[in-house]
Amino acid sequence: MEIKKVCVLGAGLMGSGIAQICAQAGYDVTMRDIEQRFIDGGMNSIKKNLGRDMEKGRITKEQMDAVLARIKPTLDIKEAATGADVVVEVVIELMAIKKKVYEELEGIVPPHCLFFTNTSGLSITEMASVTKRPDKMIGTHFFNPVPVMKLLEIICCYQTSPETLEAAKAWGQKIGKDVIVVKEAPAFVVNRILCLMLNEAFYVLDEGLASAEDIDKGMVLGCNHPIGPLALADLVGLDTLLHIMEDLYRELGDKYRPALMLRKLVRAGRYGRKTGKGVYDYTKK
Ligand code: 3HC
Repeated sequence: MEIKKVCVLGAGLMGSGIAQICAQAGYDVTMRDIEQRFIDGGMNSIKKNLGRDMEKGRITKEQMDAVLARIKPTLDIKEAATGADVVVEVVIELMAIKKKVYEELEGIVPPHCLFFTNTSGLSITEMASVTKRPDKMIGTHFFNPVPVMKLLEIICCYQTSPETLEAAKAWGQKIGKDVIVVKEAPAFVVNRILCLMLNEAFYVLDEGLASAEDIDKGMVLGCNHPIGPLALADLVGLDTLLHIMEDLYRELGDKYRPALMLRKLVRAGRYGRKTGKGVYDYTKK
């Protein structure tokens, strides 16, 4: 099956990044969100990224304009999903809301349309169970920042067909990602390992073993990580990290118990870079 039109549901950090790289790969893209301010934020971020590529001589002004012209932002799910060959769903990480979106999509998209969900750990098998095309459902887990990070983690759910897997792999390669294919399990492969480490950094901070800066410095200089675990938690979003840890804890037990310090920061509304404050304060820079 040839993929021409990609519908991205969600214009946040991840959704706008996915829309951008799909348009750069030549797909016609619709990007839908539920409020104009999210759409504006997503389009601004895409323009900023492409502008930086242009300044650095990686693309021309004409190429930038052509990429932008391939992205149609909209608030209307019908307009976004009609005629789509693939829907990449990047809506909030709440199972009930994701299921509602899939039920709504069934009445809009053509029968051949594939459903790709960018979840950081929810059960894709459960989402597929509310669709009339569970064989066409698969997980496509991207990493933040989407235009920079090379990996696409593809997750087969219980019902995914071999044809859907092949289509997702080919699409992932076309949008410039290196693909790994994994089986469905809580938080899949990368987040299961990564989030455990980030959570541990909050325990270490809470126990007063070192300052936040030194914990991060330790992991950057001692392990060659590009940024430290606390700075990375701020980038990912402490609320997102807590969601993932709560799911892991519920499904896999005590090893994954969310750190109290992480909970406290989330309760204080310190979600990380996106709110200006997390472990660190970004409002002063
Ligand atoms: N969007 C697009 N491009 C971005 C960007 C963004 N938000 N942030 C940085 N970049 C680009 C810059 O333009 C720059 O590109 P250039 O060198 O070609 O000009 C390049 O990335 C490096 O950026 P900077 O020099 O500004 O800063 P750094 O060298 O510190 O790199 C970073 C920034 C790439 C974010 C780096 O710190 C890094 O790799 N951090 C780790 C990121 C990571 O682990 N992500 C995975 C998170 S887990 C996840 O997403 C899963 C989810 O389910 C939780």
